[in-house]
Order: sequence, then structure tokens, then C-alpha cells
Amino acid sequence: MTATTFTVGNFKGGVGKTKITTMLAYDAAVLRNKKTLVIDLDPQANATTILARTGNIANIDYTITDCILDRHSNEGELNFKTNPLESDFPLNKIIYNINDNLDLIGCDTSFKNFSDFIRIYSHDQRKQVTFISDLIKPLKNDYEYIFIDVPPTISAFSDNAMAASDYSIIAFQTQDESLIGVNKYISYQNFMVERYNISLQVIAIVACMLEPDDDLDKTIYNEAKNLYGDVVTKTVVTYQKRIKKYSRQGIHLNKYKNGNYDQWDFKAHNCFNEILNEIEAREKFLRSEL
Ligand SMILES: Nc1ncnc2c1ncn2[C@@H]1O[C@H](COP(=O)(O)OP(=O)(O)OP(=O)(O)O)[C@@H](O)[C@H]1O
Ligand SMILES: [Mg+2]
Repeated sequence: MTATTFTVGNFKGGVGKTKITTMLAYDAAVLRNKKTLVIDLDPQANATTILARTGNIANIDYTITDCILDRHSNEGELNFKTNPLESDFPLNKIIYNINDNLDLIGCDTSFKNFSDFIRIYSHDQRKQVTFISDLIKPLKNDYEYIFIDVPPTISAFSDNAMAASDYSIIAFQTQDESLIGVNKYISYQNFMVERYNISLQVIAIVACMLEPDDDLDKTIYNEAKNLYGDVVTKTVVTYQKRIKKYSRQGIHLNKYKNGNYDQWDFKAHNCFNEILNEIEAREKFLRSEL
């Protein structure tokens, strides 16, 4: 097993990146029995909060920050680890089990120091962008899917996520600026691929929070299709109160005694399951082209 790694990105905020990351990971694990890991690289830690709630975990005491920072010594001082890849810090310590097939490496606000760490860590720019990729290499054999959540900025976070991923999934909302965000993301990704010779492809562009009856939403979705073709998924994520609620309650998929799923849970999960179908089909196609 070598994990296929995805980063869900867009340099625009609030377009549904974290929602897509957490839902795809949950459904890959729960509906498809895939061993799945979510790595949260966003100091806002939204994915961490949602998945901790999903797994009924009260506190995430160790996060990705512990790989770069010795925070339990010298109060108030930032003690960056000098040799984190060789350190004996066990990666297992920061992996939290959410449910049978789903694990989380969480994040917290102190990870905002990542860019400072990376500058001190190495002067070699390639080493700076491949730090996370090198860090998670030993985990690749333990999972089928790894999903990385990132903040909406061009930064050490997104550079490292790109270098650690096989594919990117671009989230967009059907607003003009968000579609411009897709274009910027693809241009920047192309730059990264050439500059650092990394292997990364866009596997899906997913419209999020669509109002099904809104004409403007439909117009912008069709514009995206015209610009980017089949990589824009046929399945769109409509605005659903249930999907929003998962952020507060944790993600769930309730079944009644008669074996039927709760209809609102079913509708929400069905949508992300369809997106997984499209991603898997496209991955097969991309691999066959190699
Ligand atoms: N399909 C949906 N239906 C209803 N609410 C949604 C849906 N998708 C996302 N949301 C809500 O929209 C808000 C923004 O979503 P999310 O946090 O996933 O965006 P983001 O791109 O990760 O934001 P950021 O750039 O800050 O990381 C959240 O409150 C989330 O619960
Ligand atoms: Mg987010």
C-alpha cells in the first residue's frame, strides 16, 4: 500500500476546502473502507476541530507542531527542533484515531511559526518545500489515502502540501473571485511543478455551496466547465444545512433501526461519495496515460 495523497486548495478563503477534505476523508474511510489519514497544515485547525468532534476526542494534545517545535521547554521561547527528520519523536504520538479507518494528524495555532522554522531548518529551497513530504514518507505505507488541508495563502504551508501530494483537488464557490482563485492556483501549481520538479496534477475542481436554483451559480459552473473541461466534477456540492452542521457536531451518518440512513445524512454523504467515484475514475485514466 502506498498512499495516494491529495491537497484540497484554493488561494481564496472560505470556499469549502476544509469541508471537502474532511467529508472525502470520512467517506473514503467509512463507505469504502480505505485506510485514510487527514493531515491538517492550517493553523486555524478547522479540520482538526471537526474530526476531533467526529471521533469524540476532547483534546488533541500533540499536533504537527510537535514535529518542529519543542514547546514544553523554556516557557515563552520558540525552540525549533534542529534535526526533526532524524529526531526520535515518534510520529505515532501525533496520530489520532477518529474511527475504524480514519486517522488525523492535527494542527494548532502554534504551527503559524512553520515558515520561520523552515527558513532556519535549511537554506536549500528544495529542502524547505519538501519538509512535510520527507516527514510523512514513513507513513505512506500505512494508508491508501492521505488528504491535506491547507490555509488559503501562497505560503510555506501550501508549498509543502503541494510537494507532498500526487494530486490537487481545487475547491471553488460559484463567485467570480473564487473562479479567478482556481486560475491562480493552477498557475502557481504549474510554477511549483517546474521549479521543483515535483509530480502533481489537478484531479478535480469541485464547485461548493451551490444554490441549486440560482442562475448565476449555474452560469459560473458552466464557465468553469468551459475553461477546465472534464476535470470539473459533474457532482457539485450544494448548500446543505446538514453539511454545515457537521462542523459543530462532528461528521456522522446515522442509520435507523430499519436499516435506512437518515435522509439528510444520506444526501450529504452521497454527494461526496459521488465525487470520490469521479476522482477514482480520473485517477485510473491519468495512470493509463503514463
Ligand atoms: N456545502 C455546504 N453547505 C453548507 N455549508 C457549507 C458547505 N460547505 C462549506 N460550508 C460552510 O462554509 C464555511 C466555509 O467552509 P470551509 O471552512 O470548508 O472553507 P475553507 O475554504 O476551508 O475556509 P478557509 O479558507 O478559511 O480555510 C464553513 O462554515 C462550512 O461549514
Ligand atoms: Mg479551511
